[in-house]
Amino acid sequence: MQDSDFLPFTRPFIDDDTIDAVSEVLRSGWLSSGPKVLAFENALSACLEGRVVRVVNSGSAALQLALQVCDIRQGDEVITTPLSWVATANIILTNGATPVFVDVDANTRNIDLSLLESFITINTRAIIPVDLAGFPVDRDKLYEIANKYQLRVIEDAAQSLGARWNKKPIGSFGDLVAFSFHANKNVTTGEGGCLVMSNADEVELFEKLRLHGTTKLTNGLLDCEALGGKFNLTDIAATIGMGQLTQLEKFNKRRSELAKLYFKYFNQSLDCSLPLADFEQTNWHMFQILLPPKLVYKQGRENFVKGMRKLGIGIGIHYPAIHKLTLYKMKGYRADSCPIAEDIANRIVTLPLFPTMQDSDVIRVCEAITRVLQPMIEDRV
Ligand SMILES: Cc1ncc(COP(=O)(O)O)c(C=O)c1O
Repeated sequence: MQDSDFLPFTRPFIDDDTIDAVSEVLRSGWLSSGPKVLAFENALSACLEGRVVRVVNSGSAALQLALQVCDIRQGDEVITTPLSWVATANIILTNGATPVFVDVDANTRNIDLSLLESFITINTRAIIPVDLAGFPVDRDKLYEIANKYQLRVIEDAAQSLGARWNKKPIGSFGDLVAFSFHANKNVTTGEGGCLVMSNADEVELFEKLRLHGTTKLTNGLLDCEALGGKFNLTDIAATIGMGQLTQLEKFNKRRSELAKLYFKYFNQSLDCSLPLADFEQTNWHMFQILLPPKLVYKQGRENFVKGMRKLGIGIGIHYPAIHKLTLYKMKGYRADSCPIAEDIANRIVTLPLFPTMQDSDVIRVCEAITRVLQPMIEDRV
């Protein structure tokens, strides 16, 4: 098989206008944070009903600084999901606080809000929900609980740009909302991220923290008032982001069409669990299925991934359960504390889904899945 036939699970698309705009920046003499960063922040704000948006060089940085802005520190507990990219929990540890993992709901694969209240203690300061694969956590229930216990909410919306809740874009309402522009996301800047905020003092603090806690004084000198980090975004990245943002709706519409095709062509007799067929709210960041339990626990998911690779199809695994990772084991988290997340993490695979895929690619993936899974199910391999 030729390399050009390989279908990865995701692939960014940067159009020629964006490449030209980046070339202009490269020739301009101004590469770091400057006018393009400001323009990108304004463009993001316009997509989010005018809320204040500040960009940084990763989604992780946005989350980490959000906790710092909320003054979350040692002794504080932050509730989150174990089914996410490890950054979601790591940034809690980075701030010296303690992650508390609440199991997920088997259908949405997001934090199970019906369990959340029983995990709240006097040390709980915040909740970090994650919209896995771009499927939004129920914001009504989430904010009802957060308001009842006066908790901050830092929405890890890394994957859900363009997703909606009650017809409103994620990020256009709520407390602090972090997006990622990592290369795999629906809108990318290569690496990058942003935080959406409401409170002017918090915006000011965030601006300082993203550049080593510094402020410019009126006499032209600078002061350092807090311990921040080097988290500013470059004008190069912001220019890519602007080119991408204008295509967000088009990209997400295409993702949604491809997801519909997966539902149409997927061989239902294979006993896999498909994601919820939601075409109102999710931005279809990923199309993730769960392999049949018998197959995974007997034959191993890696044989499926290898089989698909042989047929020229890339499969992603997002994500291992965070509390079972070595760092978290060493910190005393019990491997069996979130059984639903653990089962999903063992069985989940991400199928190819990106806007430049052809309809025929979906059919090819579905046929390949049958070819690989059928013999495994019948125990012929
Ligand atoms: C759910 C989630 N949280 C946080 C992040 C961190 O974003 P970044 O990679 O931009 O630091 C990601 C990115 O993969 C993510 O998917």
